[in-house]
Formats: sequence, C-alpha cells, structure tokens
Amino acid sequence: MTDRELINAAFAASENAWAPYSGFKVGAALLCSDGTVYTGCNVENASFGATICAERVAFSKAISDGRRKGFVMLAVAADSETYCMPCGMCRQFISEFSSDIEILSARGDGRYTSYRLSQLLPHPFEAYEG
Ligand code: THU
Repeated sequence: MTDRELINAAFAASENAWAPYSGFKVGAALLCSDGTVYTGCNVENASFGATICAERVAFSKAISDGRRKGFVMLAVAADSETYCMPCGMCRQFISEFSSDIEILSARGDGRYTSYRLSQLLPHPFEAYEG
C-alpha cells in the first residue's frame, strides 16, 4: 500500500461524509500492519458537539473490529486549500492506540504532508499509563 493509495482511500471515504452544516467533507484511511484499511468520514449532527471526525470514525471501526495494535499509517484528506490536519481531539484519541503513528494529511490538489503523531502531539494525556 503506497502513500498515494492510502490517500486515495481517504478521499473516497470523504465522499460519504455527512456534513450538511459545515459543508466540509473529510475522509480518513487507517492502514494496519496486515494490510487491512479502515476508512472513516466525518459525521455531523444538528447538535454540533455530537459531530465526530473522520479520524475517530476510522479508528473506532478498527477498535470495534477487535484491533488493538499494529496501526501503521493514517491518511486524512479533504478537498481543501490547506492540508487537512487532525484536530486536537483526534490527536489525543489516536494516541490512545498508537503513540507514534505516521499521519499523512492531504489537501484538494492531492499534495500531502507527513508527520509522526509525536510531532503533532508531543505530550499526550496518559495518566493511566504510569
Ligand atoms: N473534521 C474532521 O473530520 N477531522 C478533523 O481532524 C477536523 C475536522 C470535521 C469535523 C466537522 O464535521 C468538519 O470537519 C468541520 O469542522
């Protein structure tokens, strides 16, 4: 699975976004060590705080499928002018399951950045990790 293939999977997932309020469709694609890819899109709600981001949907699908480790790479994509970076809440959410996953963030023209989670969230909350 190449970076580009994972980003394409994220863009494809963004097509399913439920974003009637912001109009901002986001897709995510989570690559596991065995090659499995879990996708997600943002799902908004009229009670705005109930909205869930694409990244958390993708991770939640993996967790609900019994996955606990082996998360290799996450691509996030939106048809936007700027790179679609994971929000702060998603960074913390992801840190629960992968301390240093590689995160690709793509924008509408297909260009993308690559960061490690430890770069995006240097000091996660991990009070229960000792
Ligand atoms: N959104 C994501 O899906 N992922 C992010 O990391 C940032 C924001 C969604 C939430 C909301 O539906 C829309 O983008 C606008 O904030």
